[in-house]
Amino acid sequence: MLLWVVHTALLSARISGGTTPKPQMVECFSDFGVESGSCSLLLGRVSLVDCCLNPRYGFQDDDGKCRSCRPASWSEWSEWGHCTVSCLEGVRQRRRFCYGQGDCEDAEALGILQTQSCEDQACCPQSGGWTEWGKWGACSVTCQKGSRSRRRMCTEPPPICGGSCEGEDTMTEECDTGICPVHGAWAKWSSWTHCSRSCLTHSMALPTRHRTRNCTNPEPSDKPPGMPCPGQALEEQDCNNLPACPVDGGWTLWSMFSECSVTCGVGQRVRLRQCTSPPPQYGGQDCPGDSVARELCNTRKHCPVDGLWSAWAPWSKCARHSRNITCKTYAGSQMRERSCKFTAWEGKSCPENPGISETRICYDISNCKMNGKWDEWSEWGLCKPSCGPGAQKTRMRTCQPDVSMYMMLVGSKREQAYFSGKPLESCPKLDEKVQTQACLHVPSCMES
Ligand SMILES: *[C@@H]1O[C@H](CO)[C@@H](O)[C@H](O)[C@H]1NC(C)=O
Ligand SMILES: *[C@@H]1O[C@H](CO)[C@@H](O)[C@H](O)[C@H]1NC(C)=O
Repeated sequence: MLLWVVHTALLSARISGGTTPKPQMVECFSDFGVESGSCSLLLGRVSLVDCCLNPRYGFQDDDGKCRSCRPASWSEWSEWGHCTVSCLEGVRQRRRFCYGQGDCEDAEALGILQTQSCEDQACCPQSGGWTEWGKWGACSVTCQKGSRSRRRMCTEPPPICGGSCEGEDTMTEECDTGICPVHGAWAKWSSWTHCSRSCLTHSMALPTRHRTRNCTNPEPSDKPPGMPCPGQALEEQDCNNLPACPVDGGWTLWSMFSECSVTCGVGQRVRLRQCTSPPPQYGGQDCPGDSVARELCNTRKHCPVDGLWSAWAPWSKCARHSRNITCKTYAGSQMRERSCKFTAWEGKSCPENPGISETRICYDISNCKMNGKWDEWSEWGLCKPSCGPGAQKTRMRTCQPDVSMYMMLVGSKREQAYFSGKPLESCPKLDEKVQTQACLHVPSCMES
């Protein structure tokens, strides 16, 4: 303001004083900022009068200050400045400037600086005090080198009015927990064991097999303690694909005994069992022993004894109405008898036909002289002796009486007639009546 006054005085002195005044030369700017009081957009050096032909221009004198070409007038008030203290009461200020040619009027005497009291904060911050350090936290690693920290609190006393404590609330340091533990890991599984049985049975649980592994790859360390291997060291498995076990057969219970096989005397009764409980399966053994058991049974009752014919007695003498007919050519009859023996215990009598006696038509040729005729050779007889060396067989021709004068079918019933008694037959002389031959290939008596 003082300079402005001096300058203005000088200017007016020059205008009023010098007859040949040297025009004052200035740096002329085409813009003068009213808010900032600064010149911009330099045009060049011209006389002050020429520069200020435009009241919006500004100029710079030799002293380097920027001035406005307009008539003197107040700038707007600046913004209020900051409060002079950050807490409790202080002041703040604002300014305005008088720019232009001449002096600014100030009828209300507002001046160029205004000051106003202010209070940003009703109290002033005060630092607090730290507590003791807390305990160290856990090390950041469980083995080898890591870090750990501890904390303290800004509460003794607590700060006031937004104050704080000086220094850090956390302290960190290195920590060394020593050697790391070695955790266990499994070695390879062993191979599977054999199944606990080699075949499957319904009645029993499935056989199993198992395998094991050792926690040795590596083993967990003792100090510091490593973790054991996770999971099981033993694995078990059912054996499904085995053949069925042989099932040996088993007998059912014996049945009741059957009725006795006979109704009299001693017989047999049987009882049965079956190899079905269970039947043999999958190559199992058959049941041992018999499926049938037999036992004597006694009815204690005598069986009936049927009658039996005795042998026939010899034929009676051949006769005709009890008369001797020896050597006669007419027929008589003869009889023989037998008896039925042994019938007992309600047994049957002997069969009737033929019955107890028999009769036939006959001729009595006992000791009768009769012509004879030689037979053909008979069949060879048996070898005698029947074993061993020297066995022989024989055949013979026999002298047959000539019975051509006898009628062989007799009477109206034409019954067969028989000859009774041995005649005294005579045949022609014959050289060879008996032939004997050795039997061949007769086994020794030891063999037979
Ligand atoms: C586990 O260790 C024992 C003792 O050393 C050994 O006898 C066995 O064979 C091992 N088992 C396996 C599956 O390696
Ligand atoms: C029957 O007659 C014959 C011969 O005529 C005689 O040899 C025999 O003794 C007589 N027999 C009886 C029992 O009379």
